[in-house]
Amino acid sequence: MTQPLLFPTSRASPPLPSPAVRRAGTRRVPVALVLAALLAVAPVPVAGAAEYPVRGDSEPRITEETPYVPSPRIVVDTMLRMAGVNARDFLIDLGSGDGRIIITAARELRARGFGVDYDPRLVRLATENAAREGVSDSTAFYQQDIFKTDLGQATVVTMYLLPEYNAVLKPRLLALRPGTRIVSHDYGIGDWEPDAQETIPVPEKPVGAMKQSTIYVWVVPAQVAGRWRSRVQTVRGIADLEIDIAQRNQHITGTARVRGCEVPIERPFLKSSYLSFRLEAGGETLLFQGHVSNDRITGEQIRGERHTRWRAPKMGSARG
Ligand SMILES: C[S@@+](CC[C@H](N)C(=O)[O-])C[C@H]1O[C@@H](n2cnc3c(N)ncnc32)[C@H](O)[C@@H]1O
Repeated sequence: MTQPLLFPTSRASPPLPSPAVRRAGTRRVPVALVLAALLAVAPVPVAGAAEYPVRGDSEPRITEETPYVPSPRIVVDTMLRMAGVNARDFLIDLGSGDGRIIITAARELRARGFGVDYDPRLVRLATENAAREGVSDSTAFYQQDIFKTDLGQATVVTMYLLPEYNAVLKPRLLALRPGTRIVSHDYGIGDWEPDAQETIPVPEKPVGAMKQSTIYVWVVPAQVAGRWRSRVQTVRGIADLEIDIAQRNQHITGTARVRGCEVPIERPFLKSSYLSFRLEAGGETLLFQGHVSNDRITGEQIRGERHTRWRAPKMGSARG
């Protein structure tokens, strides 16, 4: 790859703030100031939503532009490794700079993908870099606002954006297909706890006093909140089972009703579309595991040594 631009230096054609940023009332902040802010805060541990700059209401807002700071090679490699990127993946890099994440994924792992950046000079540079690296067929770079980018094609989304950008993006990221991996360099996504994180030394990092980076990975969970109805095998025969699930990001809690008894669901676990939990009901332990798809859980119930098919449609859905 060519020597990366550290920052777009020419002010002859400064990148315009994106419409979304302008709508959010962004004022242009000198790059030095933004970097000073980055230096002061990077790396930032995953923080609760309340720690983000919130201006008078509970919605996260963009108050500063994310400047161009390239992710060093070791960070790119770690991001791709932690996300388990492979040849079946389609990556979208939000704010793609010189294209290095998408280009490395295509060149080293035969993945496909595109990057978007609002700076046309960076989009041109990324496009040239992709051609030089021989991956033009499997990559593309667009001058586009990340907040207007359709993410539907992604199996992996990569980001190196300020935390308030991540917080604004959170609802759209959580709504992606279950199993989609989100990878972020240095910043969390509001109150969404990462499924994995690693901090690595990065001596060549252009910002931050610590010369280290933290990489976070999230796996988009299925949306399982609501009431699910099924039948359950118990020692006293088959019974109706109703389960109420509450969800916050990938964390679930809930209660179940069997034979007029209400019991908490225990050891609840949700990753991607896989869900499992257990119930202590009528003096026995019942285990459930399955996959959620189209408002239906399909899997098995385990009671002692016995495995039986388990299906639970969501109540109130068209299929319920
Ligand atoms: C910190 S750099 C990361 C570059 C690259 N992803 C990497 O990790 O090397 C963030 C990039 O986001 C771009 N960016 C910031 N806000 C954007 C927006 N609203 N729409 C598109 N790109 C944006 C900047 O121009 C910059 O290139």
